[in-house]
Amino acid sequence: MSEQMRLDKCLAMLGIGSRSEVKQMIRRGLVSIDGIPAADPERKLDPEHSRIIVSGTEYVFKAERTVMLHKPAGVLTAARDKKQRTVMDLLPPMYTAMGCMPAGRLDKDTTGLLILTSNGTLAHRLIDPNKEVGKTYEARIDGCFTEADIAAFRSGLHIDDSDGVFDARPAKARILEQGDGSGSSLVEVRIAEGKYHQVKRMFAMRGYAVLALKRVRIGRLRLDPALEPGAYRELTQAEIGLMEQEDGE
Ligand code: URA
Repeated sequence: MSEQMRLDKCLAMLGIGSRSEVKQMIRRGLVSIDGIPAADPERKLDPEHSRIIVSGTEYVFKAERTVMLHKPAGVLTAARDKKQRTVMDLLPPMYTAMGCMPAGRLDKDTTGLLILTSNGTLAHRLIDPNKEVGKTYEARIDGCFTEADIAAFRSGLHIDDSDGVFDARPAKARILEQGDGSGSSLVEVRIAEGKYHQVKRMFAMRGYAVLALKRVRIGRLRLDPALEPGAYRELTQAEIGLMEQEDGE
């Protein structure tokens, strides 16, 4: 049995409306709990085990929500922004109301796997550099990536650029498509930390510009190929567990 909660709070957390809007809905008889019309906004219920229907639509309450989003290019990874569209704008309001936040950050032009969760402990584990959760990217770069570049990534690059200085940890890289000298290459790279613009800066230190960057895995969890850019779905517990497993690929 989960905790008892006030009905108006529960409906607001489901993103159905503000506290005052949902109170109005309750008073207008639009809400039923377990088949019985609810008239009192202050009544208590066990939200995870109650059948909640508002205006004919059933809502499922879960204490925690974790979703995988296929982040498209052109949206900010932020909880909110005054001017620009953020990843939160791609989810129904319920997710904001339930406290979901991006766990980690992708640049505005980076696409791919982004996790949003209301579970602060999980978010912390995913972004904590000491936990070494591997993040795997596919980078389209201008030029011909070589075995010498792979070896340099593997030994740990010394980054020294206008954004600062640091020693990147050893990173595993693999060529998926080889450039022919004038063309571009597609390179898979796995890093276990998340410094500012890290992947782009690593390639830049080897003389390559990143033309497009996509995150494809976190730990062993892959971006669901059925998700179009901008689409999302909730994760199962098993999938959440995959994120903390070493990516053997
Ligand atoms: N590294 C980058 O340079 N950009 C990202 O968005 C993620 C990792």
